[in-house]
Amino acid sequence: MQIYIEKDYSQLSKRAARIIADEINEKPDIVLGLATGSTPIGTYNELVRMHREEGLDFSQVITFNLDEYYGIAPSNKQSYHYYMQHHLFDHINISSENVHIPDGKTKEVEEYCLMYDEEIKKYGGIDFQLLGVGENGHIGFNEPDGELKVLTHLSKLSESTIKANSRFFNSQNEVPDKAITMGLGSIMQSKKIMLLASGYSKASIIAKILTEGKTTTSIPASSLLLHNCVTVILDEEAACLYKSVSTRRGNSRDLQITRNSGFEKGGSNVITYKECQSGHSL
Ligand code: GLP
Repeated sequence: MQIYIEKDYSQLSKRAARIIADEINEKPDIVLGLATGSTPIGTYNELVRMHREEGLDFSQVITFNLDEYYGIAPSNKQSYHYYMQHHLFDHINISSENVHIPDGKTKEVEEYCLMYDEEIKKYGGIDFQLLGVGENGHIGFNEPDGELKVLTHLSKLSESTIKANSRFFNSQNEVPDKAITMGLGSIMQSKKIMLLASGYSKASIIAKILTEGKTTTSIPASSLLLHNCVTVILDEEAACLYKSVSTRRGNSRDLQITRNSGFEKGGSNVITYKECQSGHSL
């Protein structure tokens, strides 16, 4: 796992976009798994800039979005369809038949979810999955629970997620209480995963995931500790509790820390647990 701690949200977004752009340049027909929420907006803005100014080419890129609210039409401004068009797809040269986002209006949910996973398989699986993380540790809409679903499914949103996401709606009552989401298995089968977290509201969950060294269904994002190629990009606010805990413990685990420049100077800090290529998890 590679952890980058960037000075602020803008640097985090630039780092994330650079990594995605390098992946696209290396494999122009890459299958990208995409996320929504506030966190990746800066990354998408930067990818749009790279497309416009540096000719980053999306013509062969295939995308699969993680999730969509259930019961919401693509034209609804709160839908993740709308979000993706608005923040990314309308501004790049991606072809619409290469874009996949769960259909929040499907009536045949079970069949639809199976089909979504089949479609991902048809393209050879996801090469690179972008993730945000909920304050309660959810990824996609896989909420903390006693058990986690492996495949794409209809998920019931937790009270805390409904509350957190109500900022995008007129009121909390308008937030759908269900969503179609890729399951933990669908996410974990991605060849590479990159998780972004920004702001103090994510500091506590990030510290828990990165310092406790265990996976639990009550923090779905902790499953990422079992994957052998994960990059985590944090800004200093999201990393603040993690930094203090890891310093206190003296990084006694199998950690290699490379500090490109001091935190104080606001430089980027790369902490390498294990190189992705080693094929080991933590
Ligand atoms: C939503 C999405 C997640 C996202 C999370 C965090 O619930 N389903 O994919 O990671 O919110 O969002 P934000 O980046 O706005 O904090």
